[in-house]
Amino acid sequence: MSGGPVALITGASSGMGRGLAMRLAADGYRVGLAARRAQPLEELAADIRSAGGEALVLQCDVSVREDVYAAVERCRRELGDVDLLVANAGQSEMTLVDELDSGMIEQLMGVNFFGVVYAVEAVLPGMLSRGRGQIVGVSSLAGYGGLPRTAGYSAAKAAVTKFLESLRVDLRGRGVDVTVISPGYVRTPMTDRNLHSMPFLVELDDAVARIHRAIVKRARAYHFPWPLASFVWVGQIFPRRMYDWIVSRINRDKAR
Ligand SMILES: NC(=O)c1ccc[n+]([C@@H]2O[C@H](COP(=O)([O-])OP(=O)(O)OC[C@H]3O[C@@H](n4cnc5c(N)ncnc54)[C@H](OP(=O)(O)O)[C@@H]3O)[C@@H](O)[C@H]2O)c1
Repeated sequence: MSGGPVALITGASSGMGRGLAMRLAADGYRVGLAARRAQPLEELAADIRSAGGEALVLQCDVSVREDVYAAVERCRRELGDVDLLVANAGQSEMTLVDELDSGMIEQLMGVNFFGVVYAVEAVLPGMLSRGRGQIVGVSSLAGYGGLPRTAGYSAAKAAVTKFLESLRVDLRGRGVDVTVISPGYVRTPMTDRNLHSMPFLVELDDAVARIHRAIVKRARAYHFPWPLASFVWVGQIFPRRMYDWIVSRINRDKAR
C-alpha cells in the first residue's frame, strides 16, 4: 500500500457516483468502487487506471450488511483505511396508492437508508480511532417534502438526511466531518425513466462538479439547484392545502 488517501464510493457504477469517483481519483484519492454490477465498475476502474489513478472494484449490495462490511474490509486491506466515504448508492421506485407495497418500501429503505447506515457503521470506528475522516451522504431534496408517488423514496431520503444531520452534531470536535448532499433532479439513468416533468433539471457533469466542490470544501450540507431547494424549504411553511396543490402540478406526468 502506498500513495494518497482512500475514498470509498458506493453506487460508483453509474450516474453521479461514477462521476465523483473519476474526480476523486483525479484529486489523488485511491478509490474503492462499490455497486452490484461488476462490469461497469471494471470499466470505470480501467478508465481511472489509464489516467494514472488507483482503483479497486468492490462488488456488493449495500442493503446487505455483511456485503458492506466485506467491501470495507477488502478496501482497507488492499488500499488502506477509508478516509472519505461517499455513501451515494440509491434506488428510486414509484409508490402507488392503489398498489401500496410494503415490500418495495422495505427495499427502498434497505438500499437508500440502511445502505448508508451500514457503510457508516463499518467505517466510523476507524475514523474515530484515527481522529480524522469525512462521511458524505447523497440524500435528496425529496427528503424535505413529500412529492407525488415517491412516498417510499421520500421517506428513505428523509431518514438519511436526519440520520446524518444527527451524526454531524455528535461528531463535532472528533475530527470526522459529515456532508449531506441534497440534489434536486439530475439527468442520470435513474431519472431517464421518469415520465413526469422534472423542474430545474441539472445535467450530470454540472451536478458532479457541484457535489465535488462541496466535498472538497467539507461543507456540512449542500442543496441544489437553488430555485428548487428554495421552493422545497419555503414550501414547508406553506399552508398544507397550498403545498399539495402546487406539488401535484409541478410533478404531473408529461404523458397527460
Ligand atoms: N438523479 C437524481 O435526480 C437524483 C436526485 C436526488 C438524489 N439522487 C440520489 O443520488 C444517488 C445517485 O443516483 P444517480 O442519479 O446517479 O442514479 P444511478 O445512475 O441510477 O446510480 C445509482 C447507483 O446506485 C447503485 N445501487 C443501486 N442499488 C444498489 C444496491 N442495492 N447496492 C449497491 N449499489 C446499488 C447502482 O449500481 P448497481 O445497479 O450496479 O448496483 C448505481 O451505481 C442516489 O442515492 C439517488 O437517490 C438522485
